[in-house]
Amino acid sequence: MSKKNIIVTGGAGFIGGNFVHYMLEKYADYRIVCVDALTYAGNLDTLSSVMNNPNFRFVKMDITDRDSIFKLFQEEHPDIVVNFAAESHVDRSIKDPGVFLRTNIIGTQVLMDACREFGIERYHQVSTDEVYGDLPLDRPDLFFTESTPIHTSSPYSASKASADLLVLAYHRTFKLPITISRCSNNYGPYHFPEKLIPLMIANALADKPLPVYGDGLNVRDWLYVKDHCLAIDLIIHQGRVGEVYNVGGHNEMTNIDIVKLILKALDKPESLITYVKDRAGHDRRYAIDPAKIHKELGFLPTTRFADGIKMTIQWYLENKGWWEKILSGEYQNYYEKMYGDL
Ligand code: NAD
Ligand code: TYD
Repeated sequence: MSKKNIIVTGGAGFIGGNFVHYMLEKYADYRIVCVDALTYAGNLDTLSSVMNNPNFRFVKMDITDRDSIFKLFQEEHPDIVVNFAAESHVDRSIKDPGVFLRTNIIGTQVLMDACREFGIERYHQVSTDEVYGDLPLDRPDLFFTESTPIHTSSPYSASKASADLLVLAYHRTFKLPITISRCSNNYGPYHFPEKLIPLMIANALADKPLPVYGDGLNVRDWLYVKDHCLAIDLIIHQGRVGEVYNVGGHNEMTNIDIVKLILKALDKPESLITYVKDRAGHDRRYAIDPAKIHKELGFLPTTRFADGIKMTIQWYLENKGWWEKILSGEYQNYYEKMYGDL
């Protein structure tokens, strides 16, 4: 494999951070340039073990800052750009949609304009299965395929879908060599503790109530984060230009089952479960049909949920410093606004 220079945006976040580690471990001669604005969700501690790696460069930069992004492309001339940078939390998008539109849509445009200006082998957009909206609980035979119509529910998913349409338009109109992946819910190390699994682990460990939205029967299709990294690795090297690939592993679970499983693993009582007001517009079920990426690129998840959730819980137990620092900071204000006196 020839040497590549890859710009990874959002690499101080959950999936981008895992991807940086994955790529540096797997490709000893690749250079990884991480661009991250270090919003509330970005955390340099996630990258501390690679900061001195000669194949790694960290640049604090906002992807909507056109002049700085163009300067960086002029300096780095990347072969590949993988865009993880985004506002990613549905609940925050309900409270304040503006920044979602700015980062998720305009940021994508700026990156693709820089790719057009300086030339690129591949621009990869990390998207989400949430662009397809949701599926009913009483139709377990239905799954999202790449041709399922876009039908978004939240400002978050609408902003991601808008970006996807723009990426496809840049391919058709400007022949930009793009690919898009739409993955199901990820879990694993470095997951910000505002999201379901790490929030429930942190609250259970602190003997705090576990806030379950609505009836707790909403279904998500969970994939271990390393398997998402593997899928993107396959797509950027072997995926067909212009294509969308769904990524998932047929692992559907209700929220309440996940919460109970976490409580059991930590030996905490189910009395900590507290049903709270449902999320506005709450999607009922996500379920990916991963047949295309399996058939074309041979992708299959390597980590079963039973193992992945154990590894994840263990990681949160062994890395309390990483998440306790987050819980004591600005995030605390958000938690109080979101969950009140709970
Ligand atoms: P995250 O919120 O943990 O991380 C996002 C990162 O982007 C942070 O480091 C943040 O500082 C950075 N960022 C935000 N705005 C920026 C800007 N304007 N300029 C530069 N950097 C900026 O998110 P995540 O869960 O790692 O998700 C990464 C990507 O994967 C997103 O595009 C998301 O839509 C997609 N995705 C996530 C999941 C999931 O389950 N978490 C599933 C499918 C797809
Ligand atoms: P989340 O991790 O926010 O991911 P997404 O909404 O992008 O799928 O939420 C996963 C599921 O868990 C979703 O159905 C909402 C639910 N949820 C709760 O019940 N309580 C919570 O405190 C949070 C954050 C999520």
